[in-house]
Amino acid sequence: MDFSTKTLDAKTAVTAVKTGALVVGIHENRKLGAAASALDKLGAISAALKSGDISGKAGSTLLLRGLTGVAAERVVLLGLGPQDELSDKSFAAAAQGLVRALATLGCDDAALLLPLDQVKGRDLAWAIRNVVLAGRDSVYRADVLKSKKDPAPTGVKKITFLTSAAEATAAKTALTEAVALANGMALTKDLGNLPGNFCTPTYLANTAKKLAKDFKLGIEVLERKQLEALKMGSFLSVTNGSDEPPKFIVLKHLGGRSKDAPVVLVGKGITFDTGGISLKPGLNMDEMKYDMCGAASVLGTFRTIAELGLKLNVIGVIPTCENMPSGSATKPGDVVTSMSGQTIEVLNTDAEGRLILCDALTYVERFKPAAVVDIATLTGACIVALGHHNTGLFTREDAAHDQLANELLAAGRSTGDTAWRMPIQDIYQEQLKSNFADIANIGGQPAGSVTAACFLERFTRKYTWAHLDIAGTAWKSGAAKGATGRPVPLLTNWLLGQASAKAKA
Ligand code: BES
Ligand code: MN
Ligand code: ZN
Repeated sequence: MDFSTKTLDAKTAVTAVKTGALVVGIHENRKLGAAASALDKLGAISAALKSGDISGKAGSTLLLRGLTGVAAERVVLLGLGPQDELSDKSFAAAAQGLVRALATLGCDDAALLLPLDQVKGRDLAWAIRNVVLAGRDSVYRADVLKSKKDPAPTGVKKITFLTSAAEATAAKTALTEAVALANGMALTKDLGNLPGNFCTPTYLANTAKKLAKDFKLGIEVLERKQLEALKMGSFLSVTNGSDEPPKFIVLKHLGGRSKDAPVVLVGKGITFDTGGISLKPGLNMDEMKYDMCGAASVLGTFRTIAELGLKLNVIGVIPTCENMPSGSATKPGDVVTSMSGQTIEVLNTDAEGRLILCDALTYVERFKPAAVVDIATLTGACIVALGHHNTGLFTREDAAHDQLANELLAAGRSTGDTAWRMPIQDIYQEQLKSNFADIANIGGQPAGSVTAACFLERFTRKYTWAHLDIAGTAWKSGAAKGATGRPVPLLTNWLLGQASAKAKA
């Protein structure tokens, strides 16, 4: 699906726009807006409204053909909901209805004349992003492994946003960012949906190498020997039961000034989580192919910021391996030594995410980062706490961390890819006490997502750090099973904000 923008000015009237389908918004009160009035030469639109053929309800549509004095082949009336307030919810519902309607048309292209700048509490960029993501999502297919492909998308393939001259520049920028974001999310979804027998640690490393080649990024992939030399005893303990070689991916997008401290993203890359010797129950275990969605979100975010040429130094770090049971697997009670020197009692081999992340979090100290954000499908407990709507956001509680937390929360809110802040406090650390090592890898049932974050916290004291638990948001279960591409919108939006703050400084 292709997107573009076009300026409507005195020279190009609405009636003269040549397109397969011209989409105009209407409200529930059945009054015509300026755009619709201009098209209503012979009263066909007002007649349609009066007849009750379209309610104006957000997402409702009505197709009109051959309007006199209108160059467009079709006019699609799109309901935007109540007049008095165009809420983000109404607009999103309208965008869904729009996408559904465009998929049924016999033409290739459509032009949208929508009040992109009138959504309450949102800006033009939000509205454009919303339509682009809805459109791209509607044509997304997860059928690479099907011998009979899912039905190909039908209908409109090219969408043009019509804007005023005043909006033109902002619309262009917003569209470029939205398309890059959609591309990054598609990569994240593809990787997430790919099963464990295809998406191995080696596959993730090769994907990162290809991304680096295509977008001229720095890349390094550390192999087992190098991880041993670095003394990543915690990460390596998770790989013991697996025949797949572990990989440690380091990607660099250095778009900022060379002296600027980088932002580091660390993604959990367990390509399949059986639980190890602490084996998981069989029901829905297939979904543990998604346990590399943190890694996939780092790669997707790099795809987006590289395409945008973001003026910021960003480093992506991905520890990736399988968590398998076998005769050589780590056993409950085993004590391992992390790269930081802290010893860990592995009371449950299913709490493996923190074991691979802690060594990655120690490794990234060398970059003297401005901030580190890790992204992980870390705990089922996070789903219990927040469900599937919000990503769990964890940071310490000082001024620097409050600022980082607020930036991430805001980036989530402004993209609809929301997070909710959870505590990290010393009082929870007590649950991680071990009789035989410096720390245990589990803290019992209560506040399971918090104790997981507290475990990571012990390895992050040399820099400003936030942890995103995406266990509930990275994929959907049930009939609509599939990766969501989250939290690429949150991460991208935050990085864009970091880059623009840098540009102003
Ligand atoms: N990858 C899982 C977390 C997970 C489970 C995410 C289900 C999404 C859905 C993680 O490695 C894990 O197994 N965590 C354990 C921790 C426990 C053993 C302390 C969990 O959540 O049960
Ligand atoms: Mn696990
Ligand atoms: Zn896991």
